Amino acid sequence: MESWKIQKGPVIRAEITVPGDKSISHRAVLLAGLSNGTCVLTGFLPSEDCLATVGAMRALGVEIEQPEPTTLIVHGRSCQLTPPEADIDCGNSGTTMRLLSGILATQPFRTRLTGDPSLSRRPMQRVITPLTQMGARLTAEGLKSAPPLVIEGRKLTPIAYVSPVASAQVKSAVLLAGLLTHGRTSVTEPVQSRNHTERMLEWFLAKPHVEGLTVTVTGEKTPESRDFHIPGDLSSAAFWLVAAAAQPGSHLLVTDVGLNETRTGVLAVLVRMGAHVREIIEVEEGEPSGSIEIQGAPLKGTVIRGKEIPNVIDELPILAVAGALAQGTTVIADAAELRVKETDRLAAIATNLRAMGVTVNETDDGLEIFGGTPLKGARLSSFGDHRIAMAFAIAGLFAEGETAIDGVECVATSYPGFFATLGRLTTHPDKQTPVIAALPAQE
Ligand code: S3P
Repeated sequence: MESWKIQKGPVIRAEITVPGDKSISHRAVLLAGLSNGTCVLTGFLPSEDCLATVGAMRALGVEIEQPEPTTLIVHGRSCQLTPPEADIDCGNSGTTMRLLSGILATQPFRTRLTGDPSLSRRPMQRVITPLTQMGARLTAEGLKSAPPLVIEGRKLTPIAYVSPVASAQVKSAVLLAGLLTHGRTSVTEPVQSRNHTERMLEWFLAKPHVEGLTVTVTGEKTPESRDFHIPGDLSSAAFWLVAAAAQPGSHLLVTDVGLNETRTGVLAVLVRMGAHVREIIEVEEGEPSGSIEIQGAPLKGTVIRGKEIPNVIDELPILAVAGALAQGTTVIADAAELRVKETDRLAAIATNLRAMGVTVNETDDGLEIFGGTPLKGARLSSFGDHRIAMAFAIAGLFAEGETAIDGVECVATSYPGFFATLGRLTTHPDKQTPVIAALPAQE
């Protein structure tokens, strides 16, 4: 088992980029693989999760070249995949398994999707229910509808699905099944979740129709092959944004980062907490992206709940750390989804914050964090969850004494290179790459 040791860090004054967006990388590979020609994808995230999607599409007959780690040349198969020779291993990636299940439910062959021990505990009923309503045959072999998932593909019928959960993975599984099914398939969600699938369908000219919280696809439209640039992952940038936000004197510029409005809740939360944040959208087409500039300030507690939750779902571990560093109380509510992520993130955050000397109340669907007491270094676990490992590495930068985090291999699922960047950003400010540009003043 690998561990990190972290010491208290200096102010951060730097300009950085972060690796490609994970959600967008998955979708780009899937839709390029279904398209009618060759697509060059740049900015791809070469992490274990996204490589699981690449491996799956290759196993299904899609030729994918990788001339460099972040560039893929995908030769689309015009929606006709071929049977895999063996089970498809989705590793730790819920996105791979759930999105693929929507595609595979429509293909005329049998597939078995497996995952690592964490993925093998995650709920699949949420995709089995709508896909079964479309006529699909899916069987979960694990307890409580957990993987492995056996899919016997066949022609489906379109449905209008009203989802009980605000989940982009569920929405995407149904939309991808709908894309490959004759007729109009729609999904209505209770609260807006990330809309990368809709945007990617639009980019590949498959013309989804969005009205309020309902997305409709008209099926049997082969995606048109097009090249695509994947911007940096705001969820990865969030670790550095909080590290800078919580430290007066810090000044960080992140460039070529995704600024999709269904993902930028983290910036709004940090502004409410008192950080100085400016963002500028430089690219509008496809996926909005641009730069974020942040300056540290004394933070104050905030409330994160309701409709904001799906927008910040992956940032809640690092926002909980921000809450511990802020004066006053930070409340996170309506976030029971965190209990079914790579680990039970509410329990993991509470355990680790308490080990660092923070008072925390854990509720069924959230946390109450009493911020402002100095953090103390401690020996912590990642609980096998990449975002827990990275969030507490940042907490370690603010703690007195050494923080050790055990089980950090999992970080490779979303952010290879995180620890190297941590080292670079926490060297003495004179040795950091200084902020060489600042964003223009905003009205
Ligand atoms: C994702 C959707 C979210 C998110 C996950 C990636 C996606 O999950 O937490 O990291 O790419 O669609 P849910 O759909 O389960 O909310």
